[in-house]
Amino acid sequence: MNPTTIVKYRFPTITLLASALCLGLLWPAPVRARQGHQHERIPNVMEYLDRLDRPERDRDQKPSEVIEALGVKPGMSVADLGAGSGYFTRRFVEAVTDTGKVYAIDVEPEALKYVEESLVHMHRPYQAEFILARPDNPKIPFESVDLIFVCNTYHHLEDRPVYFRNSKSALRPGGRIAIVDFYHDDRSGELGFPKRHLVPRDRVVQEMTEAGYTLLREHGFLPKQYFLEFIPQ
Ligand SMILES: C[S@@+](CC[C@H](N)C(=O)[O-])C[C@H]1O[C@@H](n2cnc3c(N)ncnc32)[C@H](O)[C@@H]1O
Repeated sequence: MNPTTIVKYRFPTITLLASALCLGLLWPAPVRARQGHQHERIPNVMEYLDRLDRPERDRDQKPSEVIEALGVKPGMSVADLGAGSGYFTRRFVEAVTDTGKVYAIDVEPEALKYVEESLVHMHRPYQAEFILARPDNPKIPFESVDLIFVCNTYHHLEDRPVYFRNSKSALRPGGRIAIVDFYHDDRSGELGFPKRHLVPRDRVVQEMTEAGYTLLREHGFLPKQYFLEFIPQ
């Protein structure tokens, strides 16, 4: 896959199952997450991506409410930064329709391939671009998006004030950055990984202020995660 392929009116070439098998063959080795979790290893990537997509996740993640709260509408351009399995990317595709555009961005090529295949299997027209990010640069084109959405990925990033100061140029006038991530305390329950990697809500606000943003609003309906929206100062 070309990491920056624009896909429109494309329909499935292989099944997701075949893709999964393919990925399993091509990516049998443990994968090292390259950021905040860099010393940890994901033993099975397909399992990891499938886990991000597990239907039970909807109960606490409330994806429809998240998209609605963000006011994502047809024609908008949205970057899903740290797209993972595409759990939110697919919902953005539905919300912006083919008059808008979605950027799926990740440091893992296999995740982008997984997302691309899952979009194809939605059997609907869409515009999407798949960007293989550098750990320190999401490579979103200049003034291309109305929203950068960062779910459960903020804590993977390093030098975040610099990272987000440099990402400002990707926003169109009026653009926002939304950050959803797990609480570092009991509110997030058992997560299956050590909470020392997580970034407390107040520190996110502090770092984003340092990066040149203002907290626009905060949503309180997610039980395990904070949900913050920022605009450039
Ligand atoms: C916990 S997953 C979250 C996936 C998705 N946002 C979700 O909510 O289902 C974190 C994702 O961030 C990606 N990631 C880690 N560091 C990154 C970076 N510097 N830039 C872009 N993506 C990154 C990982 O490869 C992984 O797919």
